[in-house]
Amino acid sequence: MILTNEVNLQEIQYETLVVGLSTHLEQVEGWDAFTATFGPQITELIRSKDLSTNEKEITTFHVTTDSSVKRILFAGIGNRKKLTEDTLRQLFGRVGKTLQKKGYSDVSVLLPSFVNEEISEQDVAFLAGEGLGMGTYQILDYKTTAHDTDYDLAAVELLSQADEQEIVSYFEVGLIYSEAVNEARTLVNMPGNILTATELGEYARELGEEFGFETHILGKEEIEELGMGALLAVNQGSTEEPRLIVLKHQVTDKWEDPIALVGKGITFDTGGYSLKPKDGIVGMKGDMGGAAAVLGAMRIIGETKPNKNVIAVIASTDNMVSGNAFKPDDVITSMSGKTIEILNTDAEGRLVLADAVTYAKQQGATAIVDVATLTGGVIVALGMDKTGALTNDEALFEEFMEASMETGEFVWRLPLTESDKKRIRKSDVADLNNSPGRDGHMIFGGGFVGEFAENTPWIHLDIAGTSGTPSEHDLGPKGGTGVMVRTLASFVERLAEQE
Ligand code: BES
Ligand code: ZN
Ligand code: ZN
Repeated sequence: MILTNEVNLQEIQYETLVVGLSTHLEQVEGWDAFTATFGPQITELIRSKDLSTNEKEITTFHVTTDSSVKRILFAGIGNRKKLTEDTLRQLFGRVGKTLQKKGYSDVSVLLPSFVNEEISEQDVAFLAGEGLGMGTYQILDYKTTAHDTDYDLAAVELLSQADEQEIVSYFEVGLIYSEAVNEARTLVNMPGNILTATELGEYARELGEEFGFETHILGKEEIEELGMGALLAVNQGSTEEPRLIVLKHQVTDKWEDPIALVGKGITFDTGGYSLKPKDGIVGMKGDMGGAAAVLGAMRIIGETKPNKNVIAVIASTDNMVSGNAFKPDDVITSMSGKTIEILNTDAEGRLVLADAVTYAKQQGATAIVDVATLTGGVIVALGMDKTGALTNDEALFEEFMEASMETGEFVWRLPLTESDKKRIRKSDVADLNNSPGRDGHMIFGGGFVGEFAENTPWIHLDIAGTSGTPSEHDLGPKGGTGVMVRTLASFVERLAEQE
């Protein structure tokens, strides 16, 4: 609906109306007529502290006069000059949570016509889609007792002074982004006995069908034929088959210059013979967060169809203990031909990624981004809210950082020096070792993967800290976060724009 200044409450479609409220102006953003009518009342409520304009604070008012609008959610935006896209996204997340808690499924949202120089009305529409979609995500569970997980944000009316179609399409792309994130969250939250490598493969097959990707789900025999000794070594102790999942988004007649998105898909990580302690093992169902990020990004790519060839490669298995399992001191041969001395079977992610990266290169990848819940080291270094990165290509990484700043997903780069590489290459019996030590071991984990990227421009993302969260946040519940889904997709979008 296009808003004019003459609009009145009666013209608004839904019973629940969301409006933003900024500090200094003490008025409803973008709606002079509303301010003219309710301005004095709002001013009084703010003065009496019954209504807050504080950033991200939400106050609900019930409309008692005869009106189709029954309630107004005032969303505090603080000083609008200082408002960032990040805060706005989180604010919409909170609004979504409030709607969900109250069970309001149809909502009209008044978009501010002007926020500040940095944020356009189209941006607001996009952020509304992202924030409302992510904020209302509900965890998939297996409880048999009745509970209210059936909330659905069913209808959103956008009230705006800009071009309606444009605003709606920005909002819808925001929703697409949020849905892909939410899908990834569900994958991360699924237990290892249910989401096996085979099941992950089936999920990817359906995704491929839905969007018309060229899809290859390789089973154990094909993985053996390819000589993926590193992926097979990790799978060796399991009764579950491994999968190599390949999806191609092709936009040119010839398959040229694809970027590879490579994901770690460990469906459960016991550590193997280098067994994890009983506290450290819980939560290891989420060790396929990298795979989930890649699949989420592919969902967005399937929907928005950027003009860039993309290949997704996911190496998936669980990491188990049995009489057949691989052991410390084993020497294995990767698909690349490089031999690896196993010093720690819990450093399995880098092994499966090694073969996935080699596969991506053989498929012609001219740039590689790998994503993995790779090391506890990244949590020690950066905490739970920052993704750690390594790279061998400044320009590629700069572009990636631009994407991550736009999506609000914090990424911080660590160094990878020649002396680090020496440690990775130090072995009496093989070309590489998979665990040079615990000092700065995020770098060893990622650096190991880099040995297989070789000279191909490459970015490594360690999401061990960011892939799951122990507590509820503005954009979602505790559990899987779907981190890097949005950044990977918007990175590919940027590369497409450069073509
Ligand atoms: N999957 C773990 C990393 C991890 C830790 C993910 C915590 C999520 C939360 C990975 O396979 C692992 O076990 N890494 C080891 C590497 C070490 C053996 C060199 C680690 O971080 O301790
Ligand atoms: Zn491990
Ligand atoms: Zn792992």
